Amino acid sequence: MSDATTVDYDGMIPNNVGLNADPRLRRALERWHPGYLDWWRDRGPEGFQEKLVYLRTAVSVEPEGWAKFGFVRMPEYRWGILLAPAVEDRKIGFGTHRGEPAWQEVPGEYRAMLRRLIVVQGDTEPASVEQQRHLGSTAPSLYDLRNLFQVNVEEARHLWAMVYLLQKYFGRDGREEAEELLSRRSGDRDSPRLLGAFNETTPDWLSFFMFTFFTDRDGKMQLHALSQSGFDPLSRTCRFMLTEEAHHMFVGQSGVGRIIERSCAAMREAGIDDPTDIERVRALGVVDLPTMQKKANLHFSLTLDLFGSEISTNAANAFNASLKGRYLEDQIDDDHQLLNNTYPVLRLKDGRIVKEDAPALSALNMRLRDDYIADASSAIERWWNRIIARAGFDFRIKLPHVAFNRRIGEFAAIHADPDGNMLGAEEWQRRRDAFLPTTEDNLFIESLMRPVTERGGFASWIAPPRAGIDGMPGNFEYVKLAG
Ligand SMILES: [Fe+2]
Ligand SMILES: [Fe+2]
Repeated sequence: MSDATTVDYDGMIPNNVGLNADPRLRRALERWHPGYLDWWRDRGPEGFQEKLVYLRTAVSVEPEGWAKFGFVRMPEYRWGILLAPAVEDRKIGFGTHRGEPAWQEVPGEYRAMLRRLIVVQGDTEPASVEQQRHLGSTAPSLYDLRNLFQVNVEEARHLWAMVYLLQKYFGRDGREEAEELLSRRSGDRDSPRLLGAFNETTPDWLSFFMFTFFTDRDGKMQLHALSQSGFDPLSRTCRFMLTEEAHHMFVGQSGVGRIIERSCAAMREAGIDDPTDIERVRALGVVDLPTMQKKANLHFSLTLDLFGSEISTNAANAFNASLKGRYLEDQIDDDHQLLNNTYPVLRLKDGRIVKEDAPALSALNMRLRDDYIADASSAIERWWNRIIARAGFDFRIKLPHVAFNRRIGEFAAIHADPDGNMLGAEEWQRRRDAFLPTTEDNLFIESLMRPVTERGGFASWIAPPRAGIDGMPGNFEYVKLAG
C-alpha cells in the first residue's frame, strides 16, 4: 500500500493518494484525462508539442530529491497528483474550529464555500498556460524556452491538483466543475477565466517575466493562505504546489533581472550615464529602465486586483470557517480568531485616501495584499535594484501606490498617479503615458522579440543566466528543435 510519501509512478496518473485503491476516483480522473489532453494540445504551448524538452517532473514529495530531470515531449509529461506528507495529529490553526483535528472530509456546512475556493484557485492554473501559449516562437534562448515550458507543465499539474480535490471530495458537482475548468478560456468574451488578470494577454517575454514575478507571486500568497486550511487535503495539496511555485518566482525575478543587467551593461559600453535617455538606450537594442518601470506598474496594479475588495465578508467567512488562513498563519502570535482585532486599511473617504482601522476579519484581503507587497518589494530590492546600483546608475524600480490603476475595490473609482496623488480624469489622460506602457513602448518591445534558437545563444536584450538548469553547461540544448 502506498503511504503518504511513496509515489506510485507506474500507473497512468502518478500519485501518492492511493489512486489504485479508489476505483471510483480513478475512473473519474481517467474520464477527465482525454479532455485535459485535448485542452493541452489546443490551448497549451503552440508548436513544440513534439519537441523534446529538458523538464523536471515531480517524483516524490520529500524535500530532498523530489524531482527528476529528463527529456520529455510535453503531451507525455507525467502530470501527477501529489500531496505533501501528512502532519500527524494536525490541528486546525485558526477560525471558529481552531484546536479541532484537521478535517479529512469536507465539512457539510462549508461545502459550497470550499468548492468555490478550490475552483477559483484551479481556474488560474490553466489560464496562465493559455495566456503564455504564443511565447515559444519568440524565446530569447533555449534556456528561456525550457523555463517557459517548465512553468506551463507545472501550472497544468496544479490544475490536476485542484481537479483531484474536486473529483475526490465533491462528487457530481466536483466533476462538473472539473469539466468547466477545461472549457473556460483566458480572454474569451463568452466564457472567460474567473479573474481579471488571467484574461489579460501575455504578448511578449518582458510581460511573461513580469507576470511570473508579480502574478505568480499572488499565486504563492494564495497557496500559502490555503495551505493553512482546516481541510487537510487542500492544505497538503497546496504545500506541495508551493515547492514548484518557487521556480516560477525564480523565472520572473531572474528574467527581469537579466534584462536589467543587459541594459545596464549596454549603457555602460555606450557611455550612456542617463538611463532616462530612452532613445539612445533603445538604439542599443536593449530595454530602457523607464519602460521596465512602466511594465512593473502595469503588472503590479493588475495583480493587486486579484486580492479583491478592501473590506470583504467572503474573506472573513472563509477565515471564520477555518478554510483559508493568513500568510504564515502558524507563525503569527495572536489568538488566530481575530474577533476583537482591527487592521489598518487604506480607504477612500470624502474624496481622499485615508488610513482607517477596520475589523481585522473583514480586512483579511488587505492583510494578504500587504504581505504580498512586502514580499514583492524585497525581491525587487534584492534582485533588480541591486543590479542597477552595482552598475552605478541612479535609478530604482519602485512599486506604485495601491491606488494606482485599479479596477477592483475602493480605488477603482478614482485615478491616482504612482505616488498615490489623486488625478482628475483629464490629467490622468494627459499623464497616463508616463505611467503605463504606451503602444509605442509595446511596439518597441515587440520589435526585440526575435527567437534565438542556437545552443548557448541569447537575444541582444537579455543577459545569460549565472548557472544552467540542473547544473547544465551554458550551451546545453534544453529544447531539441531538430528532432
Ligand atoms: Fe500554479
Ligand atoms: Fe505558478
